[in-house]
Amino acid sequence: MGLLDGKFAIVTGAASPRGLGKATAKLFAEHGATVAILDLNAEQAQAAANDLPGSGHIGLACNVIDKDACQKVADELIAKWGAVDILVNNAGITQPLKIMDIQPENYEAVLDVNLRGTLYMSQALIPHFRGRKTGSVVNLSSVSAQRGGGIFGGPHYSAAKAGILGLTKAMARECAPDGVRFNAICPGFIATDITAGKLTDEMRAMVLEGIPMGRAGTADDVAGCALFLASDLSSYCTGTEVDVNGGSLIH
Ligand SMILES: NC(=O)c1ccc[n+]([C@@H]2O[C@H](COP(=O)([O-])OP(=O)(O)OC[C@H]3O[C@@H](n4cnc5c(N)ncnc54)[C@H](O)[C@@H]3O)[C@@H](O)[C@H]2O)c1
Repeated sequence: MGLLDGKFAIVTGAASPRGLGKATAKLFAEHGATVAILDLNAEQAQAAANDLPGSGHIGLACNVIDKDACQKVADELIAKWGAVDILVNNAGITQPLKIMDIQPENYEAVLDVNLRGTLYMSQALIPHFRGRKTGSVVNLSSVSAQRGGGIFGGPHYSAAKAGILGLTKAMARECAPDGVRFNAICPGFIATDITAGKLTDEMRAMVLEGIPMGRAGTADDVAGCALFLASDLSSYCTGTEVDVNGGSLIH
């Protein structure tokens, strides 16, 4: 028996083969969920969906900064499945910039995908979740929000991820009476393509030095936490931020 038997889940930004979204989608599928993978490219999203265990998974193009596109995809999936139970707002980008190097276009790109995208996808599904008096939303923040960067992303990334924490908590408070839960995950340093090839050996050594568990996290480490927050195991948790960081920030 799976923890998500009979559930329908949407995971954004889950086409990246070694990413947190793909690992989460895979674990959800292993636990019985039917999953929709949303990403920028339809073919890559469909390929990722085809790669999941079980049948009925779907891959669709959806740029999360486009409010109409978010609503269209949400409506399409609700019509097809009859219901959506889980949303994971995972799509995100980062840039290793120092404060004085952040240009308007950098601010817009990083704030838009991470924060605006989380808002728009949540708005696309909240009425449906409210109508059913159930729903679990998992948002990807970062340790960068809590400790002010220090791994890879610049101050605009820290700000976007801190914005996600505030948004998660406010949505949790507003929607709790309707049985809809919102929680955030704050991953530490996880080896995925978001930093692949962009970290120097010195940067990597410095990051590992600061992790009491002595290793980078894996995408599966984050997926396990997402499964807990998406499933009924966490039925009394809302507005939480869960650290998945190997002890790199203990607070
Ligand atoms: N890897 C880490 O160390 C780490 C740490 C903390 C937080 N995070 C967060 O976890 C999430 C996943 O990160 P990852 O490491 O798997 O990244 P990744 O780069 O491997 O995957 C991100 C995915 O998001 C997609 N995407 C980008 N812009 C999009 C848009 N506008 N609409 C839809 N999809 C879009 C990309 O195509 C890609 O498939 C991100 O939000 C990231 O900020 C990652």
